[in-house]
Amino acid sequence: MMDASNGSANFEEINSFFDSAPSLKDGEAIKRKVEEFLEGRANRVVCVTSGGTTVPLEQRCVRYIDNFSSGHRGAASTEYFLKAGYAVVFLYRRGTCQPYCRSLPDDPLLECFEVTNGSNVTVNPIHAKTVEGAIIDNHLAVTRGTLLKLPFTTIFEYLQILQLIALSMRSLGPSALFYLAAAVSDFYVPWESMTVHKIQSSSGPLDMRLAQVPKMLSVLRKDWAPLAFCISFKLETDTKILVDKANMALKKYNMDMVVANELLTRKEEVIVVTKGGNVIVQRDKTESGADVEDPLIKLIVDTHSSYITSKQIV
Ligand code: PMT
Repeated sequence: MMDASNGSANFEEINSFFDSAPSLKDGEAIKRKVEEFLEGRANRVVCVTSGGTTVPLEQRCVRYIDNFSSGHRGAASTEYFLKAGYAVVFLYRRGTCQPYCRSLPDDPLLECFEVTNGSNVTVNPIHAKTVEGAIIDNHLAVTRGTLLKLPFTTIFEYLQILQLIALSMRSLGPSALFYLAAAVSDFYVPWESMTVHKIQSSSGPLDMRLAQVPKMLSVLRKDWAPLAFCISFKLETDTKILVDKANMALKKYNMDMVVANELLTRKEEVIVVTKGGNVIVQRDKTESGADVEDPLIKLIVDTHSSYITSKQIV
């Protein structure tokens, strides 16, 4: 539950969103996992959100509205944050791209492995190097205890888990970083006004009014983790409005950085918008397989370092 005493209408909407959301099935277990993961950690921790949230149309959900995101950005960024020495809480949409699995084929189990000599399962030589790399890198992150993966599906789950993580990371002060790459639904059906059973097509055309999902960026900034370094994303399909919209988000939600990307070129280039100016970050086109997340995370790590120093001086 949030405190609505901040005087902003947005906080009332946020309270009402959380009050009416169906409670997390395993909320206590998730909370415990996050607390255990953060226990005794004084160094940098980043919460990377990844994939799109769904909006159920029925309480016993058969149909839902989805938000576009493959999870590639979040998975790739997680790998680079881990490489830079961060511990990562990876809040991801079930079924989307996972760290270290980006180069695996779509159906890794069936395509990477084969049965030889009757019952021996072996790696198909074409995929051997990729499979080995994925297993070793993932194993390293898990055994070092630097990667915690938490799945979500609906907008209700996503925002409740994000709140829980943020409140737990609050104690890290400026060492906490939020990298909000998930594609979050802007509209939803409030739980109490949602039909319980499957909507019947025999009732004719569907007429439905969606409520607006309150933006959580301001409450994250002001209440949940006020000292954390906060990065939000801005996705547009029209490049003409992209940077202006990112600048608006930077100011309105008091973000430390907004990463602006256009749908078709998002894997090639992003524009990092800060109060100090904009930087275009591109992937190294001379190197095959280079990711735009490589230079992007380097820039973020440097900026976060300066931020931590500035907060220590104050
Ligand atoms: O996963 P990929 O296929 O690799 O694609 C990556 C990406 C394009 C999804 C990613 O780079 C990206 O841009 N993610 C954010 C997409 C998005 O939801 O943009 P938006 O303009 O709708 O939201 C802007 C910000 O507000 C986001 O950081 C979001 O976390 C936040 N938000 C949005 C809605 C809401 N109700 N509350 C929020 O806090």
